[in-house]
Amino acid sequence: MILIIATWHHNGTFTAPVHLRYSVAPSVGIAKGKPGGAGRGSQADQSNRQVNDKTGTGMTILVTGAAGFIGFHLAKRLLARGEEVVGLDNLNDYYDVSLKEARLQRLRQEANFHFVRQDIADRDAIARLFAEGRFQRVVHLAAQAGVRYSIQNPHAYIETNIVGFTNMLEGCRHHPVDHFLYASSSSVYGANNRLPFAVGDRVDQPLSLYAASKRSNELMAYTYSHLYGLPATGLRFFTVYGPWGRPDMALFLFTRKILAGEPIPVFNYGQHQRDFTYIDDIIEGVVRVLEQPPRHHSAQSASGSATAPAGMVPWRLYNIGNNQPVSLMVYIQTLEEVLGKKAELQLLPLQPGDVPDTYADIEELEKLVGFRPSTTVRTGIEQFVAWYTQYYRV
Ligand SMILES: NC(=O)c1ccc[n+]([C@@H]2O[C@H](COP(=O)([O-])OP(=O)(O)OC[C@H]3O[C@@H](n4cnc5c(N)ncnc54)[C@H](O)[C@@H]3O)[C@@H](O)[C@H]2O)c1
Repeated sequence: MILIIATWHHNGTFTAPVHLRYSVAPSVGIAKGKPGGAGRGSQADQSNRQVNDKTGTGMTILVTGAAGFIGFHLAKRLLARGEEVVGLDNLNDYYDVSLKEARLQRLRQEANFHFVRQDIADRDAIARLFAEGRFQRVVHLAAQAGVRYSIQNPHAYIETNIVGFTNMLEGCRHHPVDHFLYASSSSVYGANNRLPFAVGDRVDQPLSLYAASKRSNELMAYTYSHLYGLPATGLRFFTVYGPWGRPDMALFLFTRKILAGEPIPVFNYGQHQRDFTYIDDIIEGVVRVLEQPPRHHSAQSASGSATAPAGMVPWRLYNIGNNQPVSLMVYIQTLEEVLGKKAELQLLPLQPGDVPDTYADIEELEKLVGFRPSTTVRTGIEQFVAWYTQYYRV
């Protein structure tokens, strides 16, 4: 009988499994961390467990993109309630790597955090990770993000968002998990002008390869739910902002330029409306949804319609947004007030790939988890600026 023990180290390394020989059969094979098998048979027990704020669920949770903006906040939150978190990231240089490292450094201070530096597009490495990791839940956030960059570097989106996503699904197929939760995006709605955007709306005209890759993820997850019973939930995030945010996104970019006295590029002549969603609201939603793996009776159809015949596939899709769109000009004015400095505006036409307006219908999410984002743009921007000025000492 072979018992496999693998060790995760806080310095970010993973020791290959040690094989121990037993003369009598042990009751369970232990991989690491706290008990709780990852087999399909144990799903119901695990998902029905009550979350204890101090000890968590006792599950090992894989968070991909853990050095990224949302992954960092999620890992922090899960660790704070006692979960065992394996964070994965390849620390690529799409934006300032030192910001990713600084996030990671904070996570590494937690005893229950284990870091794996890995590219999800590496098929063999991801297969090994799943074989050795025995994850009960996976929150897949690693992606090549950004609408505009997808015009410059389309291959990065295929490698990470399509090949990498497939590797994650295959990992879950061969080493079944209790819940696979992944990030989709409001960009899938394309030029949909039916507001607010509802999950059942048509989403077959993506305006960028980024949007196409995210929509593809939703469909691919559906297939794995259908074929292999993978409990999968997609969350369409709507413009997330807050402390430790992404340098390529508007709030970060505007803050840096305004403080440096440089003009800020305002696309679509400032006529955008965005459902800006504060990071803590996103994390609250993700954590609550993670607790509720889809069951066969709560399935939606691949079109996303919540009214599809029930009983088919453990697959769900939700919007998670603030449900209160704000015009870009109001967002900028609020930032000016918080910074105490006027912006110099460089008014520019709509960028190729950009969506004019976003506005999330979040009724379905609220029904499921009893939560709706509520942080005002003013509060969120204040929190961001407080972090930014302290972090960059400006
Ligand atoms: N921030 C938003 O407003 C927003 C909106 C909609 C959807 N999303 C989605 O949410 C998720 C998280 O976004 P974020 O804002 O935190 O972005 P982010 O870029 O800060 O985080 C993504 C992380 O994934 C890592 N990564 C990228 N490619 C990888 C690969 N091949 N292998 C391993 N790691 C890789 C990056 O290094 C990065 O740290 C993404 O899937 C993104 O598409 C974000």
